[in-house]
Amino acid sequence: MDAFECIKTKLDVREFSAEDVPVEIRSKVLEAARLSGTGLNTQHWRFILVDNKQNLKTLAEDSTSGSWVRGANFAIIVLTNAEYSFHLIDAGRVAQNMQLAAWNHKVGSGLFTGIREEKIRSDFEIPNELSPTIIVGFGYPARKLTGKRKDRMPLEKLV
Ligand SMILES: Cc1cc2nc3c(=O)[nH]c(=O)nc-3n(C[C@H](O)[C@H](O)[C@H](O)COP(=O)(O)O)c2cc1C
Repeated sequence: MDAFECIKTKLDVREFSAEDVPVEIRSKVLEAARLSGTGLNTQHWRFILVDNKQNLKTLAEDSTSGSWVRGANFAIIVLTNAEYSFHLIDAGRVAQNMQLAAWNHKVGSGLFTGIREEKIRSDFEIPNELSPTIIVGFGYPARKLTGKRKDRMPLEKLV
């Protein structure tokens, strides 16, 4: 898909079908993460791939705003090193790259940032020096996105 078309048509998805995402597409999503740029090329992020039903349920319980992740085919916990002042920017860039790489293959995704930090740390054995910053859930959309539109302000209000 053309890059602009991919950006234009991608919507956050929170309801997923039961169809498995092929492992090659999942690898592309992870590769898109790896290829993302970070401040000073520090590459401080690390990723936890969550792809079994029980762990997805645990992840949903570790969230305050992403219980929908329970229905995802897989999810990626983005860990960043908060000692870098730009770590949240790095997390956002990597999340967007993964989402667009997935959407290029018609795989939908949503993200959440409402995280019960202590619980997720112990459930997923997150190292102390890294912070769970964003979680992105992936899967084929439960229904067609046709008809759904982006609700965005016009450019003349923004520029
Ligand atoms: C920084 C950030 C934090 C977000 N946190 C959450 C969240 O905690 N839970 C959730 O379901 N969606 C979350 N979202 C998704 C937004 O709600 C979504 O991007 C926005 O509603 C636009 O969706 P659309 O592209 O489908 O129109 C977050 C998005 C961003 C960029």
